[in-house]
Amino acid sequence: MASNESITDRAHLIDFAYATPDRLRKRIRLYDFQVDPIDLPAWVLDHIPSAATAHFLDVGCGPGRYLEAIRSSHPVATAFGCDLSFGMAREAALHSPSLAGDSTFLPFSDDSFDCVIAAHMLYHVPDIDATLREIFRVTRSGGNVAVVLNGVAHLRELFTVLRDAVIAVGGKNAPRPESPDRIKLRAAEPLIARYFASLETFAERRAIVTTDSTVIADYVESMEATFASAIDVQWSDVVEATRTIVSDHIANHGAWHTSSNLGMILARKPRT
Ligand SMILES: C[S@@+](CC[C@H](N)C(=O)[O-])C[C@H]1O[C@@H](n2cnc3c(N)ncnc32)[C@H](O)[C@@H]1O
Repeated sequence: MASNESITDRAHLIDFAYATPDRLRKRIRLYDFQVDPIDLPAWVLDHIPSAATAHFLDVGCGPGRYLEAIRSSHPVATAFGCDLSFGMAREAALHSPSLAGDSTFLPFSDDSFDCVIAAHMLYHVPDIDATLREIFRVTRSGGNVAVVLNGVAHLRELFTVLRDAVIAVGGKNAPRPESPDRIKLRAAEPLIARYFASLETFAERRAIVTTDSTVIADYVESMEATFASAIDVQWSDVVEATRTIVSDHIANHGAWHTSSNLGMILARKPRT
């Protein structure tokens, strides 16, 4: 299976990549090493009009980071989570009512929510337009959508190390040195504009600096579901080569750097 196919393969996402929150949590740990750190769920909520009293849906909610942020910072607001993976929905339900469901057939009535959050999930959906259409359907007139995605330069240095590690262990079809997301922040704007109005895009870039090669090796290990089936070498060897490349860099330069480049598109459902 090519890596692009694994990113959208339903069974692969449910049974492997997101069967439990473990792999995602390994990746999220990288962001602990941001300089001037950004708390992403809090940052997203800060941009949403009337978030304090809104009724939210978090589509592709994962383990419920956004649901947790809503509950802790906006006690009057209410929220539902929905995720393709039962394992994720079960974890999210610790924070707010959550169910397993597909974003292309949302199990909610029309005009149900003041705001729908779709954070770091659109690149997993085979039919992105069907998801946006469903989000539009369940958003009330005048309500908002908040789509969070990575920018083109996101973690470029990390994906360059990943490519170099594949080559170092003899892999012939090394991945391109960039984040594998099939849709990135700016490219999503025209797709969202088919349904929603008043689009605003907010983007942030942060340096990530670490002296711990394990954080990078763990991140790469967690990407097995995306890359391993498309390359001709053992994933564990790629992980160890990553560790060596980053350790050597830290020994020579004192630290290893990459940068996050992500953002959100906020848009409104026109009033009818
Ligand atoms: C990268 S995680 C992001 C989780 C969460 N939104 C966050 O930012 O912490 C992507 C999530 O989208 C879910 N997902 C993928 N395809 C989906 C679909 N068609 N419908 C609903 N959820 C989906 C995955 O199961 C996974 O939990």
